[in-house]
Amino acid sequence: MKVLVVGGGGREHAIVWKVAQSPKVEKIYCAPGNAGIAELAECVPIGAMEFDKLTAFAREKEIDLTIVGMDDPLVGGIVDAFEAEGLRVFGPRKNAAILEGSKAFSKNLMKKYNIPTASYETFTSPEDAIAYLEKNQKYPIVLKADGLALGKGVLICNNLQEAKDGVKELMVDKKFGHAGDELVIEEFMTGREVSVLSYVDGNIVKTMASAQDHKRAKDGDQGLNTGGMGNFSPTPFYTKDVDDFCQKYIFQPTVDAMKAEGRPFKGIIFFGLMLTDDGPKVLEYNARFGDPEAQVVLPRMKNDIIDVIEACIDGTLDQIDLQFRDDACVTVVLASDGYPVSYEKGFPIHGLENFKNKPGYYVFHAGTKFNDKGEIVTNGGRVLNVTALGKDLKEARANAYKAVDWIDFQNKYYRHDIGHAIDEFKG
Ligand code: AMP
Ligand code: GLY
Repeated sequence: MKVLVVGGGGREHAIVWKVAQSPKVEKIYCAPGNAGIAELAECVPIGAMEFDKLTAFAREKEIDLTIVGMDDPLVGGIVDAFEAEGLRVFGPRKNAAILEGSKAFSKNLMKKYNIPTASYETFTSPEDAIAYLEKNQKYPIVLKADGLALGKGVLICNNLQEAKDGVKELMVDKKFGHAGDELVIEEFMTGREVSVLSYVDGNIVKTMASAQDHKRAKDGDQGLNTGGMGNFSPTPFYTKDVDDFCQKYIFQPTVDAMKAEGRPFKGIIFFGLMLTDDGPKVLEYNARFGDPEAQVVLPRMKNDIIDVIEACIDGTLDQIDLQFRDDACVTVVLASDGYPVSYEKGFPIHGLENFKNKPGYYVFHAGTKFNDKGEIVTNGGRVLNVTALGKDLKEARANAYKAVDWIDFQNKYYRHDIGHAIDEFKG
């Protein structure tokens, strides 16, 4: 098979790495890819939103399967564009990717189908939003831009003034453009956050191993929200009881709800959950693998990913026995100092060769490229995902931090406490 992967971050590197292990695959292309992906795939300089160029490329190269890693093209309808050309593609159609693309849609869906989530109201005018806030006395409160906003459209406001400023930022100043045309105002929940990724074939859902993100930039969960500074899998807080509850009241009900709405979902659903005192509740849905969740979940997956993806497309996921290894995986994001605000890039990266022939250690590239001299240099806020397996979380964490020291570049920045939460687990 010839496979095309769309995207160019650490998640797509992990997907390409997993696809490369399938004996069915003879050639992988990645658009646009990055310097790490280039070791496994031929990178083609086409942007993820250039649907016409991507479909033309897929036809010209006779691609058998295209896998879309990123949210923007999915929400923008890349799957519909490929299907219109008779090309085989993995991901939700536009009418299903709305599960991630519109928070108002997903909240209304959960309400209609009794899927546990925080209570909320939606607003299309800033005046109405402010009038509602003036009556509301409970803080903190959460404001969410309806549309995609690079993971930055969620504001937790501690008082009325902050909330009013937030409404202005999202709806009036349009900091995230049309994403702020509609606003969700929701109840603030407390609890531990866990991520569960799943394969969905339109009818049924099969969940992968659980994972836990670290969204804040600095140690101790301080600093600004980022795309994710590290991750581990599995999370001990995702217990058998929690899983039973979520399978029954969240996962399959979501897939059933999408089908009932005439929006059958095929692809990956990433359930962002909060384990509250009142039970697990949905924080958000994503319509794709998480980044860096994919980097800790895929190394633990035993199946050939091509088999699972084809089963999702064909509606035969019930015939797949999805299996994960019994071990644990930790990834630490090496970022450019200053991320997520402003940072320099273009610095040569040293030490990548240390990962060669070291089973259980991986360096997935998030933001790298080749410079004019052919050196691999930093090319983004998140640069590398240093990843390691271990027999349990403590060993995986120790291994990942050992491997962090193998890499060197000017401006290297990372959190020192990825996976610290496991020390708090009293199981
Ligand atoms: P989201 O993009 O909806 O996952 O929101 C980003 C982050 O904001 C989440 O990972 C949570 O840490 C936080 N968050 C979102 N919604 C709530 C909520 N209702 N209560 C508390 N924290 C929230
Ligand atoms: N790591 C969170 C996300 O991919 O949305």
